[in-house]
Amino acid sequence: MPLNAYWGPLVERSEDFADTSFLMEPLAIPEQQFWPEEYSSFGGLHFKETACKINFFDGTRDFRWAPATYELAPDGNTLCLILHDLYYPIDVRLYYRLHTEYDILERWCQICNQGTAVQVERCCSAQFSLPGTGYQCVNFTGRWSGEFQQREVNLSCGKQIFDSLCGVTGHQCSPVFAVHRGANEDHGSIWFGALAYSGNFKIILENICGHMLNILAGISDTDFLWTISEGECFEAPHLYAGYADGFSAMSHLLHRFSLNWLLPAETSHKTLPVLYNSWYATEFGVDDIQQHLLAEKAAALGVELFVVDDGWFKGRTDSSAGLGDWIPDPQKFPCGLSPLIHHVQLLGMRFGLWIEPEMVNPESQLYHLHPDWILQYPNREPLMWRNQYILNLALSPVQDYLFTALHSLLLENDISYLKWDMNRYAAEIGSRNVKPETWRSLWHKQVVGVYELAGKLRSAHPQLEMEACASGGGRVDFSALQYFDEFWPSDNTDPLDRLAIQQHYSLFYPIKCMRSWITDDFAFNGRRVPLRFAAHVAMCGALGIGLDLNQETPERLRSLSQYIEQYKRIRPIIQFGTLYRLNSFENTDTHIIQYVLGNRIVLFAFLQKGHYGRKLYRCCLKGLEPSSLYCFDTGGHHVVKSGAYLMQCGILLNLHGDWDSRIIEFEIS
Ligand code: DGJ
Repeated sequence: MPLNAYWGPLVERSEDFADTSFLMEPLAIPEQQFWPEEYSSFGGLHFKETACKINFFDGTRDFRWAPATYELAPDGNTLCLILHDLYYPIDVRLYYRLHTEYDILERWCQICNQGTAVQVERCCSAQFSLPGTGYQCVNFTGRWSGEFQQREVNLSCGKQIFDSLCGVTGHQCSPVFAVHRGANEDHGSIWFGALAYSGNFKIILENICGHMLNILAGISDTDFLWTISEGECFEAPHLYAGYADGFSAMSHLLHRFSLNWLLPAETSHKTLPVLYNSWYATEFGVDDIQQHLLAEKAAALGVELFVVDDGWFKGRTDSSAGLGDWIPDPQKFPCGLSPLIHHVQLLGMRFGLWIEPEMVNPESQLYHLHPDWILQYPNREPLMWRNQYILNLALSPVQDYLFTALHSLLLENDISYLKWDMNRYAAEIGSRNVKPETWRSLWHKQVVGVYELAGKLRSAHPQLEMEACASGGGRVDFSALQYFDEFWPSDNTDPLDRLAIQQHYSLFYPIKCMRSWITDDFAFNGRRVPLRFAAHVAMCGALGIGLDLNQETPERLRSLSQYIEQYKRIRPIIQFGTLYRLNSFENTDTHIIQYVLGNRIVLFAFLQKGHYGRKLYRCCLKGLEPSSLYCFDTGGHHVVKSGAYLMQCGILLNLHGDWDSRIIEFEIS
């Protein structure tokens, strides 16, 4: 059984690891429980969470390893460790791909069966062990409109599970872990992993009697059952793992890896455009004339992409009808979308549209024709949520219908962006067209179906930009990153909540993909936030505007166009730069974020509430060249300081009263 010898900072001399007695106690069979196994099986003499559970035809339910063999892929970077069963013709293949440039290890697993069909109840992507105890783990708690609330969990006893049973990544937590022992932004060992999966996942962190931490990550085994017939393999989702000194370093590794390796290659190097989206302005009440007017206002501000959200398609006047029929509503758009698209393009903008492909309203032509295409149980009224059912994306006719409908929509209209939404969690994973004995595989097949559809659309339209949204941030993960260019992290656009959501999102996920809009939707907390503060918060990510521009005063429109102009100037630093979280409202008066790209730096500083007349706040920058000279403007003064000065002594930020904010740009002189 391959055991994990070490996980941590680089130790160059591999010979040091030859003698494992230095690393671990002698292995006694009755203590299998304590072995740091690379991939454990249910059964045997371990009474802990294990990486796989395979049911053989004769009732045996454990996998017993013969000595492992290995293969090295021709790329020289991928190792496959092959674990053979002692008796049954079945292999567990553990893959390790090194991304040396990014200091990231990609892991995944395959179970390949050469014999009578087996059933897999659990197949984790990877297992990890850390010696000793005293660990904590960072993840999130959340819900719709309150995603990414960072929490610290103490792992000193029992086990901690982060999972989703929603059929999608979900709002509650993220398929990630960052285990540490009191690390902070700048220092401290962090062992992290991010699972590339947008469905039911499970991350288990189990303290084994104070002896070690057992970490498992993969598809959730709740209601999961996969049959592997003779000659077939099952492949688990990939996982990206690493070690970093401090949370800042962890974010840098994951951000760079996401930008350069994971994001769709055709679009990843392009800056994301400033978009306008009318959802908060009009909701479902979309119409041609009002959209023409909004487009004119948006173009005058400098918007580059004009997006019509939900409400544009046939029968869609509220959430009760239309999903599934992806054609423009003839009443709202009597001549189709083309006149609006031409108008938008003449104004110098690109055109984008909202879709929700996985869903169908009972009130739609699609449902009337194919009521059997939804996920449902027999003898039960299908459960409705937001007036919609989920289509079974594992069915080829459903895939074909959706691809044809969306492909034609893109061919017939010059659409360069899609916001792909998903507004209900999955339930009743059954289908009239699929044999009941395979229903428990549908959870996973549904996720694969989403990837397949998104992948086919991308291949047919390589320049298409796509945003992943699931009632806000319900589909933010490292697999969605490979099909979508950007995420909608939350429907909550309250600037104060957004600062926290954005800060925590940035721990694992890249800023470039973080859409952020200026809106006047203050319903979440009932507080009105000045435009400048709201604009500065939205400028910290990929800027969007969600205001009802037809109601805005000329003065506010003027300010908006200035913010957009400034954003375009600093956008490459924000979208492609290195992020430093300098201060947070969670532990101080100010919230300060800094981005560095080459010789350019931009700093955002926020003060929500002034106290006792205080006007000056000192802040030390990070990630600068100590001996370089940086010039910047502050309070109308042109200043030049060395990187060392700015990092050690810092600058004095002039912030005063309530809702104050500053953007300061620095450049090496
Ligand atoms: C939920 C999304 O999060 C919103 O941004 C919006 O697109 C609505 N759905 C539309 O139904």
